[in-house]
Order: sequence, then structure tokens, then C-alpha cells
Amino acid sequence: MQRTKIIDTPKFIGQTVKLAGWVHIRRDHGKLIFVDLRDHSGIIQTVIIPDHVEAHDNAKRLRSEFVIEMEGLVKERPLSARNEKSPTGSVEMEVVSIKILNESKALPFELNKDTKAVNEELRLKYRYLDLRSERMHENMIMRSKVVKFFRDFLATQDFMEIETPILGKSTAEGSRDYVVPSRIYKGKFYALPQSPQQYKQLLMAAGMERYFQVAKCFRDEDTRGDRQPEFTQLDMEMSFVEQEDVMNVVEEMLINLVQTLYPEKKIQSLPFPRITYKDAMEKYGNDRPDIREDKNDPNLLAFCWVIDFPFFEKDEESSTGWTFTHNPFSRPKPEYMDDLMKKENIGDILTTQYDIVLNGFEIGGGSIRNHQPEALRKVLEIMGIPEEKIQRDYGHMLKAFEFGAPPHGGIAPGIDRIVMILQGEPNIREVIAFSKTGEAEDPMMSAPSELDENQLTEAGIKIIKKKKKLV
Ligand code: AMO
Repeated sequence: MQRTKIIDTPKFIGQTVKLAGWVHIRRDHGKLIFVDLRDHSGIIQTVIIPDHVEAHDNAKRLRSEFVIEMEGLVKERPLSARNEKSPTGSVEMEVVSIKILNESKALPFELNKDTKAVNEELRLKYRYLDLRSERMHENMIMRSKVVKFFRDFLATQDFMEIETPILGKSTAEGSRDYVVPSRIYKGKFYALPQSPQQYKQLLMAAGMERYFQVAKCFRDEDTRGDRQPEFTQLDMEMSFVEQEDVMNVVEEMLINLVQTLYPEKKIQSLPFPRITYKDAMEKYGNDRPDIREDKNDPNLLAFCWVIDFPFFEKDEESSTGWTFTHNPFSRPKPEYMDDLMKKENIGDILTTQYDIVLNGFEIGGGSIRNHQPEALRKVLEIMGIPEEKIQRDYGHMLKAFEFGAPPHGGIAPGIDRIVMILQGEPNIREVIAFSKTGEAEDPMMSAPSELDENQLTEAGIKIIKKKKKLV
């Protein structure tokens, strides 16, 4: 007999079906044993009566999270016994046979109630169990739907998904790189991408015109509730566009996303309000303002754009005293292009950077880029990067722009943060299947971990052990 999904059982009233899944809850009333059986699609109440001797004997052995297969008759429940809240609450199954496919040891924490109260390190150590709980399972389902929505939406807008390398080159992008030693070129290292920024611009130089990618990004920075060492961007780039064009695509996509997948949620104002960096700082004291009119309403979504950021800010470590605020590849607003080219009034130059903010979280950022090599070079010069380093770190970009690179711009919404807010979760770890702890560890796989001596030798690496401090 073919397996039936639990969610489909109400369609099979009066018929015998086979179900498979996990023992969610077992209640032994002596003669009657009730088992709530759970699969990916849902939960159904089953009842085992003593008439079915073998099934009844097996049911006595069942414990939470045993994996079983059951055959039985789907029955409509009397009106008084229906559970209106459950999609299978109108039926139950009278079990005829039970096959135990795998047993489960006693669990480190209970899965039939919310695991939020459980120690998080324990949850991460047993993440494969944590993910079986209803809330975490739902978070994974919705995350998958959100990503599918983005892919489908962008396909209708003529975007093409292109993968870019994970093993790349270390470039100053604002954060610290994760590096990977090369076995073949001992003493040399790849860097994991902080974002696919350069590759996506090179794809524009390659004539791809509309690119996106569900892209893994890696940044070795201190973690926070909305920051993980590796996270996922919906990375996008478009050719022959202005600021408005990129902002419009993203705004339309986010409005559609909410209307399609979260119809119960209300977007506070449409179109999304635009706030200048200056006003945001003056009025809210930060550049990701929470403009919600009612902060107690979990269904209120207050999107806004923050624009008109300064391009450069003071930096004591830079030889010229300047560094970029967001992205060295950004283009200034058109009226400041002259100042950039003349390297004048540097502190006043505004960039085409636009950040999108939702309920006080920065959920995305992007800009129009400098597609002319001279303009990019001026930015690097203002930042005081020596010629040798310009050539080493940015030479490939400057070169690519010498061969007819089109004007282009893009943005990268952060998928983890978007799903976190839409799912009403307090941090992004709740919407990442296998997230790291606040200390960037994976307690399940025990990562990071030491390497075998021969792996180190192969990579040409010698470990400098920290001397133990004598107390
Ligand atoms: P930016 O650095 O602003 O821009 O990142 C874009 C978005 O990615 C998300 N994000 C993070 N999410 C979780 N953990 C992190 N550590 C983390 N860091 C960033 C945020 C943020 O808004 N290449 C540019 C984009 C562009 O200009 O097109 C970039 O990476 O939601």
C-alpha cells in the first residue's frame, strides 16, 4: 500500500491507509492507546484498541519520537470530539497494524512543545531534533516559501540566477574575511566572499544585465541577534538603471511577498517612505529607524528607505583620513560627481546608497556603481590606498571597466533578517537551519575544530600555540 500524507487523511474517510512518521505523543489508557502521529505535513490522532492484538502490543512499546508505519481505517470523529484548530481534527485513525521502523532514546528536551525555553546551546547541539518542533519546522517551511517567492518573482522580471565562486580573493569590503589555505600554492589563501559584490559587477561587465543569486556570504565579525558569521543574501544587480529602478523592483517584490505569503500582515505606508540619512540621525538617532506607529502590533510592517548617505567618513587609520561608509564601488549622486573627480568637498559627497529598513532592522542595502574606471580609481585614491594595493585588490575591476562596462547598480536584501521579522522571531538563529552560536561555534558538528597534522602539513600551515599563562 502506498503511503498517505497525514494532511490528506480527511480525504480518505472510510478507507484504509498507510501512514508513516514520528510518535508525537502517546497516551496509554490501558485498553485504549492513543498515538498522535506526526509527519512533515501534519499530525493525526490515532487510536489502538485491544481487538488488534499485535498492534496493541506494539503500541505499548512506543515512546516519543519512535519512527513508525501504521495502517488503519480513517474515521470521521463525532462532532463533539472534533478539533477545529487542526486540519486533521475532523478525523482519527483506527490502527490495524504498527511497524516500528526505528526507536528513539529518551530525548534531551521535549519536542511536542515550543523549544524556546530550552538552553540554546543544547538546541543547537541537537538541532536535528529542535527542527522537528512545530515552530522551527514552520520557520523552515516559510523560509523555503519566501526564497521560492523571490526566485519566481525575479524570473518574471527577466532576472537570471547565476552562481559565483565561494573560493575567491581577499578584498577590503568592510569586514574581516574567512580565509582558506591553498594546498597547491602553499602560503597563499582564498577568501570566502563577504558578498558577491565584485562578481556581480563583473557579470554586468559580461553583459548579463539582470542577475540575482541566493548567495551565501561570510563575515568574520562579532555575532549579534541579527548577525551570523555566514548568512544569505538575495543578491541582485541590474544594468542600465538608476537608483529609482532598483528601488522600485525591490519595493514591488517585498509588497508582493507580504501580500502573497503573509496576508494577515499590514504594511504601514505605501509607497515605502524615504528618509534621508541626515533626517534619520536627527529624528531617530540611528540610520535604521523603527517608524512603526504601534510597536505592540506583531502584524505591522513599517518599511522605509534610507537614502542620501555620506560617501566618505573620517578614519584615523587611513593615510588620507577618509574611508567609505558603505561600499567602495558606489557611485556618488550625479550632482557630486564633479567633486569626486576633483577630490573636493569630500565630506559633503553623498552616495547613491539606499538601505531598506523594516521595523528598525536594516534588511537590505545597495547602490548605483561607478562603472567608469577613473571614477572608481578616485574613490580608492580618496581612501588613501597605495597604488600597489589598488592594483592588487582592485586591478581586475578597473581593468574590466576599461572594456565597455555598462552603467549598473544593485542591492542585496538579507534573507535571514527578512524571514526573522516576518516569522516574528527575536533573532536570525531561529530561521537558519543550522546556525552558529553567539560565539560562532557549531556545537552539533563541533566546528571550528583542529586539523590533523597531515592536513596542516599538506596546506603548509604551522600552528602557533598560545602559551598558557602562568597564574
Ligand atoms: P551589506 O553589507 O549592507 O551590502 O549587506 C546587505 C544585507 O545583508 C544582510 N547582512 C547580514 N545578515 C546576517 N548576518 C550578517 N552578518 C549580515 N551582514 C549583512 C543585511 C544587509 O542589509 N554587496 C552589498 C550589497 C550591494 O551593494 O548590492 C552588501 O553586502 O540585511
